[in-house]
Amino acid sequence: MEDPATRTGVLISTRGLSKSYGPFKAVDDVDLDVREHDIHVFIGPNGAGKSTVLNMLGGQILPTSGDIIFDGKSLGASTPSSRARAGIGRSFQLTSIIPGFTCLENVVLAVQAHRGLFGLLRLRSKEQDVALAQELLNLVDLRPAAEVPAELLSHGQQRQLEIAVALGGRPRLLLLDEPSSGMSAHERSRLGDLLKRVVNTATVVMAEHDVHVVRTVASRVTAFAEGKKLAEGSADEVFDSADVRRVFLRGRRDA
Ligand SMILES: Nc1ncnc2c1ncn2[C@@H]1O[C@H](COP(=O)(O)OP(=O)(O)O)[C@@H](O)[C@H]1O
Ligand SMILES: [Mg+2]
Repeated sequence: MEDPATRTGVLISTRGLSKSYGPFKAVDDVDLDVREHDIHVFIGPNGAGKSTVLNMLGGQILPTSGDIIFDGKSLGASTPSSRARAGIGRSFQLTSIIPGFTCLENVVLAVQAHRGLFGLLRLRSKEQDVALAQELLNLVDLRPAAEVPAELLSHGQQRQLEIAVALGGRPRLLLLDEPSSGMSAHERSRLGDLLKRVVNTATVVMAEHDVHVVRTVASRVTAFAEGKKLAEGSADEVFDSADVRRVFLRGRRDA
């Protein structure tokens, strides 16, 4: 049984998180606390540092300074694969799907790859892997496409499959960078339901530019500008903040 106290606890935090490229500060002294089972959304104009923060959480980029604490332990300079074993999953565009394979085969492979990382779980049967994969396809609304080769999916369906593949690694934390990009209006409108099912068993941290998606899915929002945290709170609080309105309006004028 899950302890209700840990349900509302903080799963991952950053303190003083910074990434510089030469003199340029892409991410500048960011403190974050992500609560377990939240859908925590990063917003901000292009270049604000959202992807860089996600990449530092996933271990693809190491910080110049600062610390990341996951489940009470500092992640230090650990690699993406060691973070995956610890429960941090990342959905990648294009690289995580094998085109010649069906949707179901793609997710079964992800489930088996995860099982391979944990010696004790090797005793689980092929049937159990397939059953879990089918459950995950169900969760991302792709159950009817189980036998469809991945390359025949629409852009949006591929993004859904990427999420199922990432969930095959049974992450406690799922990192997503702009999951609605390439999705149709219809797929976008269903993304919220999908992510709400995901946070029954995991926590989501994602960057997102579509304001409607942010308002529908976010339990908490952090706005970034020029590598710094600008505002944080509920979607309403953040979108109503004077600082955020100023930065977003400026972005529109520049566009
Ligand atoms: N490898 C790199 N070298 C130099 N600058 C980079 C590099 N990666 C990202 N940046 C810069 O860091 C800033 C933040 O980028 P990014 O995190 O991708 O922003 P966002 O995802 O919010 O659009 C941008 O100004 C970007 O140009
Ligand atoms: Mg980005």
